[in-house]
Amino acid sequence: MSVLNEKYVMYNGVSIPKIGFGTWQIPNDVAVKSVSDAIRAGYRHIDTALAYQNEEGVGKAIRESGLKREEIFITSKLPAEIKGYDKALESFNKTVKNLGTEVLDLYLIHAPWPWTDKGGNYTAENIQSWKAFEKLYREGRIRAIGVSNFSPADIQALLDNCEIVPMANQIAFHAGRTQEEYVAFCNKHNILVEAYSPLATGRALADPLLNEIAASYAVSVAQLLIRFTLQRGTLPLPKTTNANRMLENTQVDHFMISDEDMARLNAIHSEFR
Ligand code: A2P
Repeated sequence: MSVLNEKYVMYNGVSIPKIGFGTWQIPNDVAVKSVSDAIRAGYRHIDTALAYQNEEGVGKAIRESGLKREEIFITSKLPAEIKGYDKALESFNKTVKNLGTEVLDLYLIHAPWPWTDKGGNYTAENIQSWKAFEKLYREGRIRAIGVSNFSPADIQALLDNCEIVPMANQIAFHAGRTQEEYVAFCNKHNILVEAYSPLATGRALADPLLNEIAASYAVSVAQLLIRFTLQRGTLPLPKTTNANRMLENTQVDHFMISDEDMARLNAIHSEFR
């Protein structure tokens, strides 16, 4: 069994492939080739966002893959800067048009605040966006809805003021940065944690301790880090434009990180800068 064929099941019963192909920072023209390569390597879950400006390339690669639409799980996101009920609906329509799909598998609020005002209070606006998400979900235009970069307090505001509990929260998660409070809150509410930057955007790869542990399993640091996110019950979204690495990043089923090494990895607190 390969991780490529395994799935998590979100609390609403929708299943999602256990590893996704991340496309952040992959330009639109490159995305067509990268996503095609990823699909060829066996990925069936592609993660994009309107803000990545590559939805059209992603959609093209999926259409040209020859696979049926329902064989690929597509996630996209409402830009962090776009908030409110009508604006969320409008942005969603743009996204599905870009992707060339009728139904989106997972749609996320990209962040609780615009990137230019990180930490700002946009609770009222997020509640309005979430009501639009609930409408689209009820209409069957999205199979699952969630958030990204949301703290426990940000999610609690939705729980207190809306009806549908988010099905997923996509956060930065890697050995060195495990955001325990976020993960515990999500686990308590059956919210799937998706791990973006599972390799700390590549910065973790040269770390001596990680290299030592990876060598003891005869795997690469990337494989160790991806395996780590899976053993923590999160869904990794590794990103690469290199076809060999795409494959390498899915070959994580032939070894199991011991409890002792999981404890060592959990104890790292570093952004590897
Ligand atoms: P590249 O696209 O040149 O392969 P993250 O998934 O944490 O955001 O990390 C992405 C970064 O890690 C990218 O710079 C990517 O570079 C690099 N990367 C992804 N997979 C591997 C791998 N298996 N080995 C080495 N570097 C990798």
